[in-house]
Amino acid sequence: MMDGMTLLHDRTDAQLRASGCVKWALAAADVLPAWVAEMDFAVAEPITTALHTAVDQGRLGYGPPDEQCGVAESFAAFAASRWGWQVEAERVVLAGDVVDAVARVLDTLAEDGPVVVPTPAYPPFLTVIGHTGRKIIPAPLDPDAAVAEHNLEAIDAALRAGARTLLLCSPHNPWGRSFGRSELEALRDVIEAHGAMVIADEIHAPLTLPGSSHIPYARVASPGAPVVTLTSATKAWNIPGLKCAQIVCSSAAQAARVRAHPLHPGQSALGTVAGRAAYEQGGPWLDEVIATLDGNRRLFARLVQEKLPRARMRPLEATYLAWLDARAYGLPSPGETALDKGRVWVDHRPWGPGGDGHVRVNLATSPERVAEIVDRLAIAWEH
Ligand SMILES: Cc1ncc(COP(=O)(O)O)c(C=O)c1O
Repeated sequence: MMDGMTLLHDRTDAQLRASGCVKWALAAADVLPAWVAEMDFAVAEPITTALHTAVDQGRLGYGPPDEQCGVAESFAAFAASRWGWQVEAERVVLAGDVVDAVARVLDTLAEDGPVVVPTPAYPPFLTVIGHTGRKIIPAPLDPDAAVAEHNLEAIDAALRAGARTLLLCSPHNPWGRSFGRSELEALRDVIEAHGAMVIADEIHAPLTLPGSSHIPYARVASPGAPVVTLTSATKAWNIPGLKCAQIVCSSAAQAARVRAHPLHPGQSALGTVAGRAAYEQGGPWLDEVIATLDGNRRLFARLVQEKLPRARMRPLEATYLAWLDARAYGLPSPGETALDKGRVWVDHRPWGPGGDGHVRVNLATSPERVAEIVDRLAIAWEH
């Protein structure tokens, strides 16, 4: 249990290594892993109880169709209570995961033409778009910008050059931003001037941290504008191995087109059980995660300032993934140096334009491990 927490439990290193989940299982015995987006906390009790019951009942066959498994209704109730967003269940299509959902939506709803991706970007975006036969036009963030904002000029230029879709990530991984209303409206104005479509990946929305509020992009878009929102309980409740993402379409007719994709349905029976339990009963656990992450982001920012004085970091507003600019250390790959010399595995996959010299650090762990991560980065970069 973490200080003052009653529902959130940290797992020991041994438990995490034994879990077989990639974050710890792929790390050598002396390496502290802080890379892929898995949390070190034990899964919320209502979810494990629901899963145990489902296994005992043998719910391991094909899951019921979207409209009968209750996930859409639970998500709609969660979205209404957290963000004041009214979603009719018949607009929600289930899929395996969000990356898979990006491909399904591009295949079924998007016009031909390149896709604009603000970069640095979540790396699988950069591969899945190509898989659908589309080109990517990056809209890079200036790494020296004081605030990580969308590059509206680059987005406008990409749309003028023929792009028809923007893949928005809100809150943004890896920028750590929760976008405010006026920022989203400015983005909307550029997109709608070109009649382009937005695919909004909002998987990190439940992990918006104190001081920021999540505004679903669909709520700022004009009525009838083409917007599809992708999300899943798997990130905020740490169950990414249980496949059940939600594709929130603009209309039931649009949802029917996505359901006609040859890979539909992609969700697993246990994923639907866990997703429902998360949305219906996982709020108190999520609130403790948010309180812990709030403490961890402050601790991390303070320790970075003290022990990694040349590293730069903008305030973390959402997600548990801190975006650390290590360019001032002049290392060819700060992530590889961290692993080789500090024995800490921070994420250093290719993020696209604007991402060089940065690493992404996973803070969904105990404060003790957060401190250890910084100590190990200091061994690697400062000595
Ligand atoms: C922005 C973003 N989208 C999607 C995903 C992956 O979601 P899924 O496992 O549902 O594909 C992640 C995982 O970290 C993510 O950060």
